[in-house]
Amino acid sequence: MANPSLLILAGDGIGPEVMNEVKRIIDWFGAKRDLAFDVSEDLVGGAAYDKHGVPLHDDTMAKAQSVDAVLLGAVGGPAYDNLDFSVKPERGLLRLRKEMDLFANLRPAQCFDALADFSSLKKDIVAGLDIMIVRELTSGVYFGEPRGIHMEDNMRVGINTQRYTEAEIERGARAAFELAMKRNKKLCSMEKANVMESGILWRDVVTEVHRDYPEVALSHMYADNGAMQLVRAPKQFDVIYTDNLFGDILSDCAAMLTGSLGMLPSASLGLPMANGRPKAMYEPVHGSAPDIAGQGKANPIACILSFAMALRYSFDQGAEADRLEAAIETVLADGARTADLMGPEGGVPLSTTQMGDAILTALDASL
Ligand code: NAD
Ligand code: IPM
Ligand code: MN
Repeated sequence: MANPSLLILAGDGIGPEVMNEVKRIIDWFGAKRDLAFDVSEDLVGGAAYDKHGVPLHDDTMAKAQSVDAVLLGAVGGPAYDNLDFSVKPERGLLRLRKEMDLFANLRPAQCFDALADFSSLKKDIVAGLDIMIVRELTSGVYFGEPRGIHMEDNMRVGINTQRYTEAEIERGARAAFELAMKRNKKLCSMEKANVMESGILWRDVVTEVHRDYPEVALSHMYADNGAMQLVRAPKQFDVIYTDNLFGDILSDCAAMLTGSLGMLPSASLGLPMANGRPKAMYEPVHGSAPDIAGQGKANPIACILSFAMALRYSFDQGAEADRLEAAIETVLADGARTADLMGPEGGVPLSTTQMGDAILTALDASL
């Protein structure tokens, strides 16, 4: 049988730097675990704009549709900030999500023991934290019509529309309930039903889907309170289901519970393909980090953990995903730190590549 196929879209800024470490990890699994992938690479974001004048070429889009999984680094950067909106790097990423119909964005936030001291929150608030945010990714205010900047009464008006169909809310809810069933059977749905009709519908539909998952304890929370509760007492949550924009914000917030944005992976999943695997893209939650790009300082762990999610969710290799996550836990416990994981007491941080080296050494030791 042919090897499973991976398309790597490293993107901009620190994207290619962290993806280099993932490529070494992929090679390790091929060499040491007999788990080989057919890997191809292409451009996305500013890098694609520089070559093609668009942030995602149609050929790249077609490739993304045909592979078993896409691995994405990050897109964007100051060089592209003044481009026309339609060709900004972020449009390339949004096109991938929309056209691949990746409606369920899984953003786990796990606090590794070794980093519990490092979070900006008190240790006992975050130690042992393990939550999963399920963010609806293909609808809501990111894609709703009408949108644009228009003139009205000689004044510019910026318009975006929050729009959700019940089918969109429902399929994401099913993904969230399924995850809750595999975890601690606890789901909190977050919206703003107090001010938004889309929030009222959200709450209704999630409550209806709950009938199919009676074992799951379901609660509802306004998203602003959810943000506050996430920093007050994050361990009250297990799975959180929320919309596209709230999910974007709440997951950055959850990132800091784990110590750094450089630690948070994600999986974006769609419908099953003919081979039974879900359409899928894996990417770190962080962006292109222009402030540290090109300096070898970036933490590659979010991107490497995203590959672990690929092993688990696309390739049914849960044990190998566990192995990779355990290797990361080991190096952190041994004190390996990139600059973003260092406190005010300082020390000499590892470079991106040195962190990759340490993880590869821990993988070797796991055999
Ligand atoms: P960012 O996530 O790029 O950076 C925020 C802060 O976190 C910066 O100080 C950065 O140095 C730090 N950081 C992020 N990742 C890190 C890592 N792996 N290791 C160490 N430090 C890390 O967010 P931003 O500055 O708001 O956005 C920069 C650009 O990235 C923008 O163009 C934005 O649109 C884009 N962006 C892309 C994605 C994506 O591709 N998925 C996600 C978020 C932002
Ligand atoms: C993310 C990013 C993206 C988003 C941007 C870059 C389009 O912030 O993946 O969290 O807003 O979804
Ligand atoms: Mn974001």
